[in-house]
Amino acid sequence: MAGTIIYVENLTVNFNGFKALDRFNFYVDYGELRFLIGPNGAGKTTLLDVLCGKTKPTSGRVVFKDDLDVLNKQEHELVFLGIGRKFQTPSVFTELTVFENLELAFKQKKGVIASLFKQTMPKEKEKIESTLENVKLIEKMDQKAGLLSHGEKQRLEMGMMLVQEPELLLLDEPIAGLTVSERQEMGEFLQSIAKNCSVLVVEHDMGFVRKFAQRITVMHEGKVLSEGDITKIQNDPNVIEVYLGRGGNGSC
Ligand SMILES: Nc1ncnc2c1ncn2[C@@H]1O[C@H](COP(=O)(O)OP(=O)(O)O)[C@@H](O)[C@H]1O
Ligand SMILES: [Mg+2]
Repeated sequence: MAGTIIYVENLTVNFNGFKALDRFNFYVDYGELRFLIGPNGAGKTTLLDVLCGKTKPTSGRVVFKDDLDVLNKQEHELVFLGIGRKFQTPSVFTELTVFENLELAFKQKKGVIASLFKQTMPKEKEKIESTLENVKLIEKMDQKAGLLSHGEKQRLEMGMMLVQEPELLLLDEPIAGLTVSERQEMGEFLQSIAKNCSVLVVEHDMGFVRKFAQRITVMHEGKVLSEGDITKIQNDPNVIEVYLGRGGNGSC
């Protein structure tokens, strides 16, 4: 589907006089896999925090799917409306099984507390199992989540988000701590997810960005420094100066 899924205009987040975001403008299309890079403190995590309702900005506008005012909504409402967020460290319920973790995420999306106690219907079970297949955890569905490897926990958390059928997925450094082959898998996975939903990924590993990014936004001091494909970004003198030049890999 063509068109813009999220509009961010003149967004300012002021932390006691310090502007983490400074009249920031940003747009993501439907079905796009967008990477967000930039030096430490550029405002990347703050942007994700605003988009998922965790932080309320000082001023600006964020519109999701044409007419939904994100800034008026709370975090759980945004999950319900289709904005999913994955934080840097996996947060799964270690005492529950893999299946139960997904079941819980699925029911949370439905929003009705009572449904947490209701039996899972065959159709719901099917949805959970197909998601487990998607994140390659179907064989571990009865294992406690606490026993999974770090990479598997990351995949479980991806599954917990996907089962909620988001239209915009926000990921903060999803490959941190993963092995080389898990990184490759995650990159391919992100590309496959982006066919059905828009994915916004904060990442500082330039090798990974080079390999999997379509469009990249470079942030610096709460603003957009540059935007475009990898060739444009790598040759932009401003980006080289404030980011790529520092250690060659973007120290963040
Ligand atoms: N809750 C907060 N209170 C005060 N300052 C904050 C808060 N959160 C982030 N900051 C500051 O805002 C700036 C941007 O932070 P962040 O969005 O985490 O950057 P990035 O993710 O690009 O490294 C940093 O200088 C950080 O110290
Ligand atoms: Mg950050």
